[in-house]
Amino acid sequence: MTDAVMQPKDVRTRRETLGLGLALSCCGGTAWAQSTAPVRSQRPAAGDLLVGTKAGPDAAPLRPDDIVLAAPQVMAWAKDPASGTVRDGSRLNQILLLRFDPESLDAETLAHAAGGVLAFSATCTHAQCPVSEWRQEAGILHCPCHGSEFDPRAGGKVVGGPAPRRLPPLPLRLSAEGGLEVAQPFVGKVGVQAA
Ligand code: FES
Repeated sequence: MTDAVMQPKDVRTRRETLGLGLALSCCGGTAWAQSTAPVRSQRPAAGDLLVGTKAGPDAAPLRPDDIVLAAPQVMAWAKDPASGTVRDGSRLNQILLLRFDPESLDAETLAHAAGGVLAFSATCTHAQCPVSEWRQEAGILHCPCHGSEFDPRAGGKVVGGPAPRRLPPLPLRLSAEGGLEVAQPFVGKVGVQAA
């Protein structure tokens, strides 16, 4: 009969099958989800090239000369060179760029610069507003939401307002073609995430 009492071997087989299914839905599923996470939303990665936020996906990468010396920040996104995807799927991916005389930078900050250009997360570490203002006379980044201020020449450290942490730097290098390229991921968590 097909409805015969289930033998121990059959029970083990069903348990094993169930366990395999759970494993796939748990761990295998997680791995699959991670591998297919949208490239647009992934944080900037080493080898990405930087493009302006108003540039189209086919725009050439920014070069140091595109960033005016000691002028207000330029907003940018990272672009995955393999797929050509601009990582604009999360506002936490937004980057700000500034260019300075390298001699005005402290040693740690200089190590993250390329052609005098510095990159930082553009997301305030207080409540995640864009750090969109620049105090020219002091050379300080200013967040308009609650007044946090950051010193880009000193690694993005907080110099005023309620922000609890510095703006995470994004170390840069120059590509073989002279474009601005990401050397390492953000140094520290962006936004209000714990460092
Ligand atoms: S979000 Fe920037 S100071 Fe509050």
